[in-house]
Amino acid sequence: MDTKTERIVAIYPGSFDPITNGHLDLIGRCSRIADRLIVAILRNESKLPLFSVEERMEMAREAVRDYSNVEVDSFHGLLVDYASEKRATLILRGIRAISDYEYELQMALMNRRLRPEIETVFMMSSEAYSFISSRMVKEVIRLGGDIAGLVPPTVEARLKRRILGAAD
Ligand code: PNS
Repeated sequence: MDTKTERIVAIYPGSFDPITNGHLDLIGRCSRIADRLIVAILRNESKLPLFSVEERMEMAREAVRDYSNVEVDSFHGLLVDYASEKRATLILRGIRAISDYEYELQMALMNRRLRPEIETVFMMSSEAYSFISSRMVKEVIRLGGDIAGLVPPTVEARLKRRILGAAD
C-alpha cells in the first residue's frame, strides 16, 4: 500500500498463541475503520508459548488472508516504538469482561505516557466470542472438550496435533 495515501495505520498487538475467532472478529471490525491493520505478535522469550512465533504468524496469515488491508508481523521491545516505526496512530485491544479492564487500562496509560501521539482503542467482540481466550481454548482441548467454531479449522487441527498428538 502506498504510505502517502494511508491515513489510519492500526496495530493489533498480542501473543496470539493461537489466533482465535474472537481475535478475528476484532480484526474484521477494525479493518473497516483502519486503512491498514497490522496484527503484531510479540517475540517474548520469557513466556513459554505452545506455538513458535513463526507458527503463530503462519496461522494468523492464513486466517486474515481475505482482508486486503490486514497483514501479520512480529515485534520485540516496546510496542509503542514498534508502532511509531510503522507510523501507526492507533493500537487496537479487545475488552471481553470487566476483569480485562485493569490490565488494559494500565497498559494503555503506560503506552500513552511513552508516546502520547498513539491512541489505544478498545473494541468489544461480538457476544458470541466474548468468552474465548487462547488460554481457555488450549485448556478445553487438553481436557477433551470441543472447540469447533472457537478457532479457525486449521488452527483447531494444529492444536489437536500439538496438544493431543492427533493426526488430521
Ligand atoms: O495477548 P497479550 O499477551 O495480552 O498481549 C500483551 C502485549 C503483547 C500487547 C503486551 O505485553 C506488550 O505490548 N508487550 C510489549 C512490551 C511493552 O511495550 N510494554 C510496555 C507497555 S505495558
